[in-house]
Amino acid sequence: MTTKPVKTLANKRVLLGVSAGIAAYKTPDLVRKLTELGAEVEVILTRNADQFVAPLALQAVSGRSVHNYAMTAESESGMGHIDLARWADVVLIAPATANVIARLCQGNADELLTTVCVATEAPLAVAPAMNQQMWQNPATEENIKTLAGRGAFILGPDSGEQACGEIGPGRMLQPIEIARRLGTHFQLGAMAGKNVMITAGPTWEAIDPVRGITNHSSGLMGYALAQAAVESGANVTLVSGPTNLSPPERAKAINVTSALDMHAAVFAEIDDQDVFIGVAAVADYRPVNSVTHKIKKNADEMTITMVKNPDILADVASHSKRPFCVGFAAETNDVIDYARGKLERKKLDMIAANHVGSSETGFGTPNNAITLITNDSVTELPKQNKYALARVLMNEIAKKLP
Ligand code: PMT
Repeated sequence: MTTKPVKTLANKRVLLGVSAGIAAYKTPDLVRKLTELGAEVEVILTRNADQFVAPLALQAVSGRSVHNYAMTAESESGMGHIDLARWADVVLIAPATANVIARLCQGNADELLTTVCVATEAPLAVAPAMNQQMWQNPATEENIKTLAGRGAFILGPDSGEQACGEIGPGRMLQPIEIARRLGTHFQLGAMAGKNVMITAGPTWEAIDPVRGITNHSSGLMGYALAQAAVESGANVTLVSGPTNLSPPERAKAINVTSALDMHAAVFAEIDDQDVFIGVAAVADYRPVNSVTHKIKKNADEMTITMVKNPDILADVASHSKRPFCVGFAAETNDVIDYARGKLERKKLDMIAANHVGSSETGFGTPNNAITLITNDSVTELPKQNKYALARVLMNEIAKKLP
């Protein structure tokens, strides 16, 4: 009896860069292995790679036309280098020759694949393949260290008999092993099949048709988490207050304005969710009366009476069909103590405490740092890009799910 492989690459878009080495002949099999694990695959060949593998074979197994090295007016009018850079959840280069590794280190943008690598925010995985002397050359060793230091995943190489007849390290890993390690490295599929709802952005509490009360949340942290959840295989619903961001293509996006709208949108679908993550900076209060006409500035003073908004996260956590509940705590001081208080008061499973009020992390910044607190653990997630942080956080959440 054959067992079905676990879809560790479910929902994942793998941009496979094939460089000009003999191991390229194995890449149609690699594409098969990646798609069997659930990935969608686009292929870019570097200059001369088509001497080692037929583009038509790659097209047949990937179901998509293959991109060659050249950046022409014709290729750029289709899926150009920026589209490919944005499309990818991960860029995998296999085989990666000594030459392409050196060019990646230098940040060269001298053909389509290297240009996409410079333009993308997606993580990079490299499966080296070369003669054993080339692999052990100090320049290659240095280049590999540089790429690894920048966060690239180095898959292999294997050791053994080489195409040139020599024996030693430098053989590309077998396709099945590359696909397996890619899934493990990125801990993809950790949320496969789970329904995850995320709130993001600020809310807008209207005073009159042209004025309102809001805050500095850009939505970036919540949108990054939605992206990370999609990448890890989840069915994602993103309930967002007003932002300038585009939601991840594969998430269901629900746009709302006020805290009451957000509460209603969340509760319309909460019974189907396995995980709820409250990242939105929800206004705690709203004006009692929002008037339908523009208020005139006749008086020297004006008073706006406010009423408390419902606490969406606390209501979800005390709901009868309660999902796993993760809150965020935005604090300027005593971050851990206040966050722990919210974890207990709102009856959450986990809270991500972040320091706000500096220009480095928190509201509207590209980076964030989090202390992740549960009833029995405290984990520091150091300062990094919100997208990278979201991937780590999503894996931490996945570990705690029943
Ligand atoms: O959007 P960015 O610019 O990327 O910034 C990200 C962020 C700083 C907004 C984000 O990381 C963050 O900390 N979000 C929570 C901000 C917040 O409002 O924290 P809070 O301490 O007021 O609320 C605690 C938790 O209760 C939050 O999960 C919040 O979503 C939830 N809450 C609060 C009030 C309310 N009425 N309903 C809620 O669901």
